[in-house]
Amino acid sequence: MDRKQFLKSVGLASAGVAVTSTGVFGKSKDENLSLNGKTALVTGAARGIGLAIAVDLAKQGTNIALLDIADPTGGMAIKGYRLANEAELNAATNEIRKLGVKALKIKADVRDLNAMKSAVARTIRELGGLDTVVANAGIAAWSPFEAMEENQWKDVIDVNLTGVANTVWAAIPQMKRQQSGSIITLTSIGGRQGVPGVANYASTKWGVIGLTKTLALELGKYNIRVNAIAPTAVNTPLYRSEGQYQSTGMNSFEEQDKAMLGYHALPTPALDPVDIAQSATFLASDNAKFISGLVMDVAAGGNAHYTG
Ligand SMILES: NC(=O)c1ccc[n+]([C@@H]2O[C@H](COP(=O)([O-])OP(=O)(O)OC[C@H]3O[C@@H](n4cnc5c(N)ncnc54)[C@H](O)[C@@H]3O)[C@@H](O)[C@H]2O)c1
Repeated sequence: MDRKQFLKSVGLASAGVAVTSTGVFGKSKDENLSLNGKTALVTGAARGIGLAIAVDLAKQGTNIALLDIADPTGGMAIKGYRLANEAELNAATNEIRKLGVKALKIKADVRDLNAMKSAVARTIRELGGLDTVVANAGIAAWSPFEAMEENQWKDVIDVNLTGVANTVWAAIPQMKRQQSGSIITLTSIGGRQGVPGVANYASTKWGVIGLTKTLALELGKYNIRVNAIAPTAVNTPLYRSEGQYQSTGMNSFEEQDKAMLGYHALPTPALDPVDIAQSATFLASDNAKFISGLVMDVAAGGNAHYTG
């Protein structure tokens, strides 16, 4: 059985690519969420979890600024997979526009604070405000820690941790002016436990939790909520990559899936991006208006191994 057939057999129709076809997203607009006419900036929105979040929010009537580096390496230590390219960012922007909301394409790097400030300014100017920010952009660079190259360490810290800080720094002034906002960060099961083979990634994801909880305390007085989502394995190009399964000592996607099936409480080897997106939509919405400082595990019950 090849990889595609295997994934089909366990119900994962389109591994290796973001699951974003409209067939996957059947949700209709829910006025109780109060997301109609709002504005969200989503980083890493060209594909994967970021795109799924953008689509899910757009289905609730939210206008979306889609920000992505749109460059397969971005000059970084990317091996074993690639980042999104500009064609994917264009396609993502069109997909959002087709949902009947405004879509703004922003090619920018979350490592660049000035670029993030410009991105926020454009979002406010062209889409009319900034109600939700999703700091989703992230990378992986796999290696046992002892053999890790310095740039593998630095690049992952710069994107996954400093990139989140830059995104929030850029957003705070507008949210303070409005006296409202929802900031959603992406951590991981790798931010809840040690993960051999990705000390850099795990360090950033623990760091994102520390940042999220601290910001929830600092920004609450401005009616700004700050929450994190901690997914388990999700079918995106980052996870469905050779670098990923090799880093865990596995020889194939099949082996990786068997291991994850054993790890999860619920009977699935991996989630789809839409499963994460629905939690982000909830956290962005008025239904979560008194939820802040939360790390929401969307981990098929695998989180029961480690959360108190
Ligand atoms: N896929 C998983 O199994 C999984 C599990 C837990 C957490 N996460 C987290 O979810 C987030 C999204 O991951 P994904 O799986 O969708 O990955 P992905 O690689 O499919 O998508 C990430 C997107 O971020 C963009 N990006 C990367 N560096 C950037 C930069 N410097 N500036 C702007 N954009 C940049 C990429 O081009 C890409 O479009 C990440 O923070 C990741 O760590 C993923």
